[in-house]
Amino acid sequence: MSLEQEIAKRRTFGIISHPDAGKTTLTEKLLLFGGAIQKAGAVKSSKIKDHARSDWMEIEKQRGISVATSVMGFNYKDVKINLLDTPGHQDFAEDTYRTLTAVDSVIMVIDCVKGVEIQTEKLMEVCRMRSTPVICFINKLDREGRDPFELLDEIEEKLNIKVRPLSWPINMGKNFKGVYNIYEKSLHLFTSSKTTIAEGIEVKDITDTLVDDYVGENNAKQLRADIELIEGVYPEFDVNAYLNGRVAPVFFGSAVNNFGVKELLDAFIRLAPQPIPRETSVRIVEPEEKKFSGFIFKIHANMDPKHRNRIAFLRICSGKFERGSNYFHVRQDKSVRFSNATAFMAQDRETVEEAWPGDIVGIFDTGNLKIGDTLTEGEKLMYTGIPSFSPEIFKEVVNMDAMKTKQLEKGLLQLMEEGVAQLFTYELGKRKVVGVVGALQFEVIQFRLKNEYNATAQFVPQNIYKACWISSKNPQKLAEFVDSKQRHIARDKDNKLVFMAESRGWLQMVQDNFPDIEFHFTSEF
Ligand code: G4P
Repeated sequence: MSLEQEIAKRRTFGIISHPDAGKTTLTEKLLLFGGAIQKAGAVKSSKIKDHARSDWMEIEKQRGISVATSVMGFNYKDVKINLLDTPGHQDFAEDTYRTLTAVDSVIMVIDCVKGVEIQTEKLMEVCRMRSTPVICFINKLDREGRDPFELLDEIEEKLNIKVRPLSWPINMGKNFKGVYNIYEKSLHLFTSSKTTIAEGIEVKDITDTLVDDYVGENNAKQLRADIELIEGVYPEFDVNAYLNGRVAPVFFGSAVNNFGVKELLDAFIRLAPQPIPRETSVRIVEPEEKKFSGFIFKIHANMDPKHRNRIAFLRICSGKFERGSNYFHVRQDKSVRFSNATAFMAQDRETVEEAWPGDIVGIFDTGNLKIGDTLTEGEKLMYTGIPSFSPEIFKEVVNMDAMKTKQLEKGLLQLMEEGVAQLFTYELGKRKVVGVVGALQFEVIQFRLKNEYNATAQFVPQNIYKACWISSKNPQKLAEFVDSKQRHIARDKDNKLVFMAESRGWLQMVQDNFPDIEFHFTSEF
């Protein structure tokens, strides 16, 4: 197959949702369709349940499992689908943000009872930064949920994206009859069977009396009224508007009953983008370019503390990746040989000889690779759009064992490179402050420092509201600002200047007082 054909058959995406909306269940059903797993329940264990909050071994176990399920590749109808898992636990949201930099589109799951929830809003913000195309799946129609029109309004309002229903539920909860596929003009009748998938019933259009026969007169009447309203209110579905991230097509179903999932998957392979061109520091790189290039979006420490091997996740953006080739490590300005690459297929890992744009390859690494690193065949370009986000909780690292200072520093450095948390080093006194998105991450860091590096650290809470990356068109003004705010100036891992704001009010005041300084909440601007 040619490079173009390999690209055309690939879809690389992630599923996002607020915890409990049904991401794991949907993932599992999608894998069943792809024949990648044989039975339900196989994906379930990748979740960190709430009761595991402070259970170290549980965290370690989850870390192991999550390597296996990080990327699930499967084939469906001649399409090679790469599904990138995103941690559901909100304390690991940063990992999710980064994973979203490596996908070409997302499926967003919304619980029809709860509607749009906070985590969905945050994840959608990240999608919007990159205009990622979004397909929306409204789940749990077998429950008494909210009015579908109300849900659509809420999505538009809270997630700041236009929607276009492509299927429509016929009643819900105990009276859920099925969905009408607006696109194909067919009825899918709901059976709560988890094993069989009923074929859709083709109808002429919504006026067909078959509809009444199957769902009853009252439901048919309501459905006709709803469809009329939809056609009146929502413009025709525009594929380009979807691909530009402006309109989200919406499907309804019940993941646990495997209902509406096939329709979703069929629409997904038809609509979702194949690997897209990507921006770099120099130019836009097209996937069809003959020369290989890609970037690292995730690093996972190996489970064996005796060997500091790590797996770096490489997203291929252009050309063909070949195992055993030498590639150019742009940041280190040197050629590196990757003899040990693995592909991810559902639950197995296998050695990969070659991989194509859209594919994710796991590379064993002993400390050369960092998140955001670019590999090419020699061209000096860096993929952009893999920013760090301001953490939300900050604590100072205090070394509790002076004999193990080196180990602590090494451990911290490596954990930060893995993206477990962000390290800020103050200009004054070189104090080290770690910033995370969720409190659970501190527990992970402390545990891993001890377990893998034999270093003991304590974390002292800091009164910091946000880390703001600062810049100015006027270098003089920037220098003055840094001078006057010395006590609050730190450097991030890339030595970029960061202003550590203590409160929202204070930040606002500082912003007003220093109009020449720009404050950014991500490291890339
Ligand atoms: P998550 O990954 O987004 O956190 O959600 P997950 O798939 O684990 O689903 C959360 C809960 O919602 C699960 O129940 C799951 O069975 C249920 N669920 C998923 N899809 C549907 C659906 O279409 N209808 C209904 N009624 N429930 C659904 P649980 O009790 O937390 O787990 P379990 O004991 O069933 O495994």
